[in-house]
Amino acid sequence: MLGIRISYWCVTVILRKYRYVKIGAMNETVSVILNRKSTRQFLRKAIPEETKADIIAATLRAPTAGNLMLYSIIEVNEQAVKDTLAISCDHQPFISRAPWVLLFLADYQRWFDYFEFCGTGDFARRAGLPVRNPAEGDLMLACCDALIAAQTAVIAAESCGLGSCYIGDIMENYETHRDLFKLPRYTFPICLLCLGYPTKAQKARRPTSRFDQQFIVFKNSYQRLRESEFEKMFDKEQARAFRNSEELNGAVNVGQLIYRRKFAADFTMEMNRSVKAILKQWGDD
Ligand SMILES: Cc1cc2nc3c(=O)[nH]c(=O)nc-3n(C[C@H](O)[C@H](O)[C@H](O)COP(=O)(O)O)c2cc1C
Repeated sequence: MLGIRISYWCVTVILRKYRYVKIGAMNETVSVILNRKSTRQFLRKAIPEETKADIIAATLRAPTAGNLMLYSIIEVNEQAVKDTLAISCDHQPFISRAPWVLLFLADYQRWFDYFEFCGTGDFARRAGLPVRNPAEGDLMLACCDALIAAQTAVIAAESCGLGSCYIGDIMENYETHRDLFKLPRYTFPICLLCLGYPTKAQKARRPTSRFDQQFIVFKNSYQRLRESEFEKMFDKEQARAFRNSEELNGAVNVGQLIYRRKFAADFTMEMNRSVKAILKQWGDD
């Protein structure tokens, strides 16, 4: 009996290591979510059209504010466009090698055009309603819609054996992306998704760690963290980040490392410039 238990334990540990096992009594969906990781290396294997259709169908079932579907999806098929994105999105060559690339737009243009088609300007004046253009709040709501749709695509894809990676850098270089995709005024390129079958190496990679939930999930009110909690929060992260001392380049803790690598990095500065340029388009003239 003990022998059987030990063998079961060994097999479980090995399978868990390679992420082929559902841990505990977990249902399949939760298991897919817990085992997901970003994929940046893809097999040169075409994705069947039926699989793509299933993923798109699932994506369009995502919750959407007021059932308005305040987003659009542009499928990027042209290699030349993928190559441009690989440069314009902070020089990430794997974008040009991704078999399936989807651009998610927050989109109020469609509804605004329809309002115009329906004569809502005159209607609003007669009814004493505000006459207005899509503004910042509408944009935030449309971004929520687009991101929820994108994440639904990620999980649907994962359940079909496809890996994916978000590209947030699509918010950079607005002028390039506006011209490339003929983006009208009331759209906002909120994220790009690269999808494809993961390579063996990508599959074997363990999911990345997360901060412990005590620092992320609060009860009833927001909790600002104290020094001792930060120390606890960054214990493991600190050790991991500092393994490669060459990376540090003068930084003495994780905060300084991330400040340099992300918060004050050139790509972040460009993202803020670019987003400001997009925001100027929204709201009343
Ligand atoms: C909004 C957003 C933008 C992201 N942008 C990029 C990106 O431009 N390039 C990239 O390689 N990964 C990008 N990622 C993936 C994250 O780096 C990744 O989710 C994170 O490191 C956690 O790893 P995991 O997804 O494997 O769990 C992005 C993820 C999100 C949610």
